[in-house]
Amino acid sequence: KTRILTGITTSGTPHLGNYVGAIRPAVAASRADDAESFYFLADLHSLIKAQDPARTQRSTLEIAAAWLACGLDPERVWFYRQSDVPEITELTWLLTCVAAKGILNRAHAYKAAVDRNRAEGEDDDAGVNAGLFMYPVLMAADILLFNADRVPVGRDQVQHIEMARDFGQRFNHIYGGEYFRLPEAAIEESVATLPGLDGRKMSKSYDNTIPLFAPRATLRKLVASIVTDSRAPGEPKDADASNVFQLYQAFASDEETAAMRRAFAQGIAWGEAKQQLFERIDAEVAPLRERYETLMARPQDIERLLRDGARRLRAQHATPLLRELREAVGLRDLS
Ligand code: TYM
Repeated sequence: KTRILTGITTSGTPHLGNYVGAIRPAVAASRADDAESFYFLADLHSLIKAQDPARTQRSTLEIAAAWLACGLDPERVWFYRQSDVPEITELTWLLTCVAAKGILNRAHAYKAAVDRNRAEGEDDDAGVNAGLFMYPVLMAADILLFNADRVPVGRDQVQHIEMARDFGQRFNHIYGGEYFRLPEAAIEESVATLPGLDGRKMSKSYDNTIPLFAPRATLRKLVASIVTDSRAPGEPKDADASNVFQLYQAFASDEETAAMRRAFAQGIAWGEAKQQLFERIDAEVAPLRERYETLMARPQDIERLLRDGARRLRAQHATPLLRELREAVGLRDLS
């Protein structure tokens, strides 16, 4: 079976970028008969930025409920919280000791922090915790521990998956075995990078997100606030340069997208384009939103599901692989 794996960092409320980049393709892929899927809440990753315990817990619940509301079937999919599987942190250390530091220097998130510091005349590493630097190694452990073949993600994560391949390959080479399968990123081109309200990538760090389950009225207001150029109604508009169009495309069929492209060429008013965008998003999200509210009212059920998922997953996958890896590197067998 093809193993599919992906995670979402629990550092905020799930947004439309998470939905189209990861949740929607991952849930669809998990329905194939020849798939075995591993979907999880990356709460260890969230500690790098969000050092607020209440927020981490709240976000974990919200993101778990979002996965379930979007159709994840816990009977078919391994569904768990990263921190419930301590083998992930143990593998992180084994990989840390084969990972080249020079590769981590080039990781986007770390480099962006260094570039910001340089622009402000600070020391390169001012305010940077070592967790940010090590982020790709923890992510590699997430992926390699379960020998994932495909990882559905948005484009911003591709570099991390390449690093996971690199660390896995080095480990295999150094210890002389096929311990890890090497993963591939699975990217849907039409939604690889969903723009946010201001046209930059939709991201918690830019504060430009549309929450996946915003109430209808809020969704309408947020869509109305998307930044556009100042072309008047009747003036032709460039679909490919428009974030309204890109968002529309992520929620519409090919025919609807083609019709919208013609409407842009014919000078559709921004207000009208946004109204149609709002209606498309709402049509897809409304039923999910309702399920989400129901799930959020029963946090203890979600908690039970996660604990149970991690317990079975450890017994079946994580503990046996770690035993093999400990032996490979020359550590004692704990069992
Ligand atoms: P995170 O939490 O930032 O994002 C979760 C997923 O959503 C995708 N995404 C987007 N896709 C398209 N357009 C956007 N604007 C957009 N914003 C976010 C991301 O690409 C991602 O797929 N490090 C990861 C979480 C993680 C992980 C893993 C993922 C931890 N371990 C192992 C895959 C495999 C992260 O912070 O994603």
